[in-house]
Amino acid sequence: MTNAQAPLLKRLFIETHGCQMNVYDSERMRDVLAPLGYAPVDAPDDADLVILNTCHIREKATDKVYSELGRLRAHKERRAEAGVKTTVVVAGCVAQAEGEELMRRAPVVDLVVGPQAYHKLPELIARTARATGERLAADFTPEEKFDALPAPKAEGVTAFLSVQEGCDKFCTFCVVPYTRGAEYSRPLARILDEARALADQGVREITLLGQNVNAWHGDAGAGEGTFAHLVRALARIDGLARIRYTTSHPVEMTDDLVALHGDEEKLMPFLHLPVQSGSSRILKAMNRKHTAEDYVAIVERLRVARPDIALSTDFIVGFPGETERDFEATLDLVRTIGFASAYSFKYSRRPGTPAAGMHGQVSEEVSAERLQRLQALLGEQQRAFNAAQIGKTLPVLVASAGRRPGQMHGRSPYLQSVHFDGAPALVGQIVDVRIEASTQNSISGTLSLRPREGEKVARSAG
Ligand code: SAH
Ligand code: SF4
Ligand code: F3S
Repeated sequence: MTNAQAPLLKRLFIETHGCQMNVYDSERMRDVLAPLGYAPVDAPDDADLVILNTCHIREKATDKVYSELGRLRAHKERRAEAGVKTTVVVAGCVAQAEGEELMRRAPVVDLVVGPQAYHKLPELIARTARATGERLAADFTPEEKFDALPAPKAEGVTAFLSVQEGCDKFCTFCVVPYTRGAEYSRPLARILDEARALADQGVREITLLGQNVNAWHGDAGAGEGTFAHLVRALARIDGLARIRYTTSHPVEMTDDLVALHGDEEKLMPFLHLPVQSGSSRILKAMNRKHTAEDYVAIVERLRVARPDIALSTDFIVGFPGETERDFEATLDLVRTIGFASAYSFKYSRRPGTPAAGMHGQVSEEVSAERLQRLQALLGEQQRAFNAAQIGKTLPVLVASAGRRPGQMHGRSPYLQSVHFDGAPALVGQIVDVRIEASTQNSISGTLSLRPREGEKVARSAG
């Protein structure tokens, strides 16, 4: 325990699981705890405060929390023997879904806090500390609103910006509407302020986040209140060169948003648009509110607006009632669209969701076999997409040094990882790289001599 004379700086370790929303939330937690004297560290070993930011989406994700807590117990006991206290906090979607059970099953946990309550974290931590006579660096004023907090500190040239939270879609397999609550859109002015603050700190690319990001709406009247309007407003911010958004729902791909992909140079030609299945029958049972044909039609419209747009998606295989024929419809959809990348998962039965009680649960063997076939096809498409860049010159946003000395790392417009030889001073610039080689997960090439600003993307399709 800290005595009155000792420095009051404390070490904070946050371990983040799950989606980008959790990554963003972890950064906000770091920011709200800074005034209490918590400085981030890279490993849990010497941390005074450990926060597990958890994911509940599949059973495996939840299991991970309990194994992690086992490790943390040993860590906490070791430190206690040396006379130092460790506070363990569970945040995120498991905290929201299983708060009480967590405290019961894992006594190592001092505090459980759900995603809607992070603004109360300083208060909760301070209470926990006071209860044990521990001192913190600063007294705090409890913030009633997350939004009232200072803009996040940028850590590089790309950043996430949360614009929307929660979900009202209630897909029958999914826990998110229960762990993240109802759809909520942050006000336009707050988002613009945050984006400007990020741009002032050197951020060149922002990714707008939300569980249904394209369901964002402002309070202003028609036209002013749409997600497309938000993107247009952000595109006017000097310094920001690239805008992305994730994750979108197909039913929210409105005409103005599709058109914007053709008009707005700063909107990058890559879209993550989860489809889940290629069988309209299964999509109906999933309560996805779109058919396979609807999805193909949306992609066609996007490609008319922006011929080189690259697509990514999510699939679930082995949803209750999925037959071999349904699964083949999924493979057909993959062949029809041609994805640049994709995530695919075996269906995981989540207690409390409607699908958990459905007839026709698919066996582990069948699901595993289908997943393997699907991933083989998706892997082939990803390799082909990357290989198709060879010979092209792509504008690359330089993000960091690469692994090898002299090597730099950046992102293509299509969100590919790009490696090339160059100087560290290039970080933050958009440079031309001539692509010469590819693997399934990245591409590489040679820097063109003339670094340049602004974006110009070769419009030739795939
Ligand atoms: N709002 C986003 C993200 C949801 S979670 C969306 O609509 O896409 C990310 C992905 O996890 C989902 O797209 C889905 O493919 C997968 N997923 C969600 N629940 C699942 C479950 N019970 N079993 C397997 N995969 C699941
Ligand atoms: Fe889950 Fe469906 Fe909402 Fe996405 S849209 S978060 S899959 S319920
Ligand atoms: Fe997982 Fe919660 Fe994100 S369940 S995927 S961390 S919204």
